[in-house]
Amino acid sequence: MATVAQKLSAAGTSHALELRGVDRMFGALAALSDINLEVRPGEKRAVLGSNGAGKTTLFNCVTGDFLPTSGRIRFFGEDITRLPAHERIRRGLRRTYQISLLFKGLTVLDNIYLACRGVSRGRFSFVRPRRNEALMQSAEELVDAVHLTDIRDRPVAELSYGQQRQLEVAMALAGAPRFILFDEPAAGLSPTERGELIEILQSLPSHVGFIIIEHDMDVALRVVESVTVMHNGRIFKEGTPEEIENDAQVQELYLGDGHG
Ligand SMILES: Nc1ncnc2c1ncn2[C@@H]1O[C@H](COP(=O)(O)OP(=O)(O)OP(=O)(O)O)[C@@H](O)[C@H]1O
Ligand SMILES: [Mg+2]
Repeated sequence: MATVAQKLSAAGTSHALELRGVDRMFGALAALSDINLEVRPGEKRAVLGSNGAGKTTLFNCVTGDFLPTSGRIRFFGEDITRLPAHERIRRGLRRTYQISLLFKGLTVLDNIYLACRGVSRGRFSFVRPRRNEALMQSAEELVDAVHLTDIRDRPVAELSYGQQRQLEVAMALAGAPRFILFDEPAAGLSPTERGELIEILQSLPSHVGFIIIEHDMDVALRVVESVTVMHNGRIFKEGTPEEIENDAQVQELYLGDGHG
């Protein structure tokens, strides 16, 4: 029997992201079990869940860093389940990593320029570039968008941790993304840095959807319109931020974790 999502996509309406029955095993461990998820174009969503819930594995399957053991993944209607990661980047999918992947010896602007250049070629490249004016202009706009204008010529190694996370957001924005996966961009930030990041996420273009993995409810609830809670590799609950915040089972899960 066709699901609502299948009927919608048969009618030509596509989700930005659609997962059907996605499983990912690591040996005997089910890191993801029967994940069904639909995200609209432009939708901003948080994924919450305790350590080991499967959040990063979900991102890895969507970006192509890992393949799912079974199930299907569609990006704007196209089946991308087995596409290589760089082909997904070409289609407008971006991510940031839980662990930073910046070029620490290069300046802020150079890091963003390289991201713009890499995306324009469909894959990231380590070859020293000759300057391209259009790409440099895009890079400068992105520097402004993440509030790093004043320090754009400083080497990344001199940036605070929070500024580095801002830079990662700019790099994910390179080359007209359609959808971004942010893996705990606020982890380890001070309250001031957190506020800055929230402002940046709130000012992303409305047509660019994202999923943000975030442990801090205050951050998540200020930048998203929908929330998915994961637990033990499964989707535990979905709802609006208000519904999730007031959900007795979610509260119990979080309290349980806190005391367990
Ligand atoms: N490459 C891997 N090889 C083996 N097991 C893995 C691998 N990656 C993840 N796992 C396991 O899969 C489960 C889900 O891990 P995952 O990193 O997706 O959780 P998470 O929700 O992102 O957790 P955290 O909040 O700690 O980042 C965990 O039990 C983890 O140990
Ligand atoms: Mg993780």
